[in-house]
Amino acid sequence: MALPGRKLIVVSNREPYRLKGGRLERTVGGLAAALDPVMRASGGVWITSGVKGRGDISSRIAVPPEDPSYVMRKVPITEEDMDGFYNGYSNRFLWPLCHITLDRVRFKRSYWASYGKVNRLFAGAVIDESSGDPAVLLQDYHLAMCALSIRASLPDALISLFWHIPWPPYAVFRICPHRRELLEGLLANDLIGFQLDAFKTNFIRCAQEELGARFDPEKDALLRNGRATVLKTLPVSIDFEWFDSAARSGEARAFISGFLKDRGLQGATLGISVNRLDYTKGLIKCLDSIEVFFDKYPGYRGKVVFLHIAVPTRKAEPYKSYRERVRKRVAAINKSLSTGRWRPVEYIDADFSHKELAALYGAARFIIVSSVYDGMNLVAKEYIASQTGLAGCALVSEFAGSSEDIPGVTPINPYDAEGCADAINGALTSAPAERKRSLRLAREHIRRNDIYKWAGDLLRELERARWQNISSRTSKRSKRR
Ligand code: F6P
Repeated sequence: MALPGRKLIVVSNREPYRLKGGRLERTVGGLAAALDPVMRASGGVWITSGVKGRGDISSRIAVPPEDPSYVMRKVPITEEDMDGFYNGYSNRFLWPLCHITLDRVRFKRSYWASYGKVNRLFAGAVIDESSGDPAVLLQDYHLAMCALSIRASLPDALISLFWHIPWPPYAVFRICPHRRELLEGLLANDLIGFQLDAFKTNFIRCAQEELGARFDPEKDALLRNGRATVLKTLPVSIDFEWFDSAARSGEARAFISGFLKDRGLQGATLGISVNRLDYTKGLIKCLDSIEVFFDKYPGYRGKVVFLHIAVPTRKAEPYKSYRERVRKRVAAINKSLSTGRWRPVEYIDADFSHKELAALYGAARFIIVSSVYDGMNLVAKEYIASQTGLAGCALVSEFAGSSEDIPGVTPINPYDAEGCADAINGALTSAPAERKRSLRLAREHIRRNDIYKWAGDLLRELERARWQNISSRTSKRSKRR
């Protein structure tokens, strides 16, 4: 999968593995889940962040622990820089801006300073790891300024950035005080990947308006200062076969029977939602829909239980307060609806291993993906891949990329609690043949468009993008002659 003669370097803020109870465990979140299988297959280095003085940030660790196949290298960052870069510019500014939750956007100049500094530290680690000209896969909105610094030292490196979250329309992006710098930083990449065409179109408009860049539809590239940056829509995916076989395994069966027994849920019909604890995932809206569902369809009381799994990954505000709101909402629903030993919502904020998740997905009769806005949402894909019995139903927000990307899902509008309640009832009353048909369609799509295909396409496009630049330089030179 790697490009011949080029070392593969992935860079992301979130580490793929972290130490928990003395053991290395894979972290929560779409990005790590998507790229770990790729790195296992191709080898190389994954550069990530570590906070100085917090835990073990030894510089190079072979992962995964059970079958070391690539190296994880941590870039030591001071607590103060991390706060400005991650909690500040990335999560309090870019995240809500790109997800168009504008009342949550906070900006400080110091955030921007830390963001630039930490991006340069990441770039320094890439340069340090490079022997020759590497293929660098930058991941996400934390690293918009990285390519510029790498390019200054390694002009012939192949550099791409995949933007996992939405790119907002120009009218929203204009809020960004450093919009020109950010766009210039991004255009230092050979290739930028987006989840959906709409995000790519938004990006083109921003670069045209702010930088006067020209879009060449034949090259699928933005042209500026003699450089071409190719833009591609490449919806990110999962390791389909892995989830499919994990859900079929004896381990999954054993886990699920223990889980149901421990929680007194044997015989219950399960609904599920699985998220990082984040306001963009619409967790409160999801709970509202569950409450309306039991009000509108009281016949399901005592029979259906909703597993609400929400794993906190971001610990600073506004996430602390949001967690409290979610907890209180769950408690209120359970207080008003519970009867006897039945509780409508099982709220779980611990993270499960991917094997355990596959077992839970396989057992759940429906899933709710309630994002108010989401680049892709890989949980929807994981659920479908784990539905080996073809009995479930994926209710996916119209505002998550996965509802556009996957055929066979049932679109829902998380703002319309009654509509969502009806959709749950629809899922529970639909004919088995209809559910099978939809799941087959969805599964086939994800099987054919899995994470290996995504990574292969990304690398192929990256190499082509490079040729684009070399050939345009050559043709300019020959025209001059
Ligand atoms: O959804 C966007 C995203 O950056 C994912 O790509 C990634 O898994 C997650 O958010 C990281 O979030 P956190 O910083 O909370 O781990």
